[in-house]
Amino acid sequence: MTNKIFPCILGLGYVGLPVFTRLNKKYKTIGFDTNRLRINSLKKKLDINKEVQNSDLKLLNDSNITSNETNIKNCNFYIITVPTPLKNKKIPDLSQLEKAYQIISKYLKKNDIIVVESTVYPGATKELATKIFEKKKKLKSNKDFYLAYSPERINPGDKKHQIHNTQKILAVETKNKLIKKKILDVYKIITKKIKISDSIAEAETAKVIENIQRDLNIALMNDIFIFCKKMNLDFKKILNLASTKWNFLKFDAGLVGGHCLPVDPYYLSFIAKKNRITLDTVLAGRIVNNKLKNFIYNEIKKIIISYEKKYKKNYRVLISGITYKKNVADIRNSYALEIYMKLKKDFKSVFAYDKYCNKYNQKKYKVMNKLKSMSKYDLIVFLVDHNYNKKLFNSIKTKKIKYYDPFRYYL
Ligand SMILES: NC(=O)c1ccc[n+]([C@@H]2O[C@H](COP(=O)([O-])OP(=O)(O)OC[C@H]3O[C@@H](n4cnc5c(N)ncnc54)[C@H](O)[C@@H]3O)[C@@H](O)[C@H]2O)c1
Repeated sequence: MTNKIFPCILGLGYVGLPVFTRLNKKYKTIGFDTNRLRINSLKKKLDINKEVQNSDLKLLNDSNITSNETNIKNCNFYIITVPTPLKNKKIPDLSQLEKAYQIISKYLKKNDIIVVESTVYPGATKELATKIFEKKKKLKSNKDFYLAYSPERINPGDKKHQIHNTQKILAVETKNKLIKKKILDVYKIITKKIKISDSIAEAETAKVIENIQRDLNIALMNDIFIFCKKMNLDFKKILNLASTKWNFLKFDAGLVGGHCLPVDPYYLSFIAKKNRITLDTVLAGRIVNNKLKNFIYNEIKKIIISYEKKYKKNYRVLISGITYKKNVADIRNSYALEIYMKLKKDFKSVFAYDKYCNKYNQKKYKVMNKLKSMSKYDLIVFLVDHNYNKKLFNSIKTKKIKYYDPFRYYL
């Protein structure tokens, strides 16, 4: 068995690119992504997600980034970080993960290691391995190849909790000490803090419940937020009062989007249903968080209608910030974007501005990158607390332009 580790990262997105930049410092590493545009921009040292510094995109140790799969053929340590979204009926879409397994299966050699980092439902990592490697290729797990699971905890836009200083779960089931050591050696390059697990299914479950817990906690606050609005009570003041109790958890209200929280509860509920297990709370957060989106949309709609009725002219509305959360470029499942698109369809003069959104999405959704003049807008809406919005908020206050800041980010 060769001791030389030759890693390949499949999927160079929010999760995969930071993993690649860590490993590339130590090993000759292949970064493989099926999206040619992504590879082309990374080759120009540009991460349109704005999560990795251009200087970190320097290729070291003869590493390579590529969309040509034959370049991975000599690798022996595969890390899969491809998307695991939902299909239309809110059921898991594992097609990209399956494709990654299929690509690896063409080049898999004896004793190769595969680590899955994508979020999946409990059992999925091994289920796909059985289907692709064992049944089709007649290779035996823990004998011909080794499988591990290490869910990702990166938090886009968060400069404090980064990949190298965040504890990571690493589930390894093999008893083979040499293989275990190899996996650990590689993961020690990614982060110094590792929590070892001996069960892939337990690590898969831990990952989804981390996000489900957060989704539910925010949902509870969103429910109370809507209640307060309808009862004419001050939600922020109530939150401050309640948080003086030692065991009150200070979650805030807000729009919940992204690739994780709106997705992961459905992954767990899918496998629970398949096993005829009832989960009473897991999807409750999704219902409330969706309700908040409609509530906010209706609030803005009411403001526009009442103005247009009174003044018989178009009300010019600017939504400042359309990505799914503060200081990130990601627009996946962004409720701010959905609200903007719906308002734009329903009214004549609705505009958006977001410096974080990448240029492709700015073009696709007609989002401005620069704001020339604020005074041509009648109302400025803040649904995302991007840092730059604070400055904008301060200046519209002095200019006496109306604003709508439902979550009181700037008050
Ligand atoms: N974004 C996050 O904050 C975050 C956090 C924790 C976990 N996750 C999980 O990590 C996984 C990846 O998410 P992401 O946000 O990095 O997605 P992403 O869309 O940013 O990146 C995934 C990349 O994989 C590529 N890809 C798709 N199929 C491929 C294949 N067969 N071979 C090679 N490349 C392929 C895509 O072109 C894309 O560039 C998901 O399961 C997600 O749930 C994401």
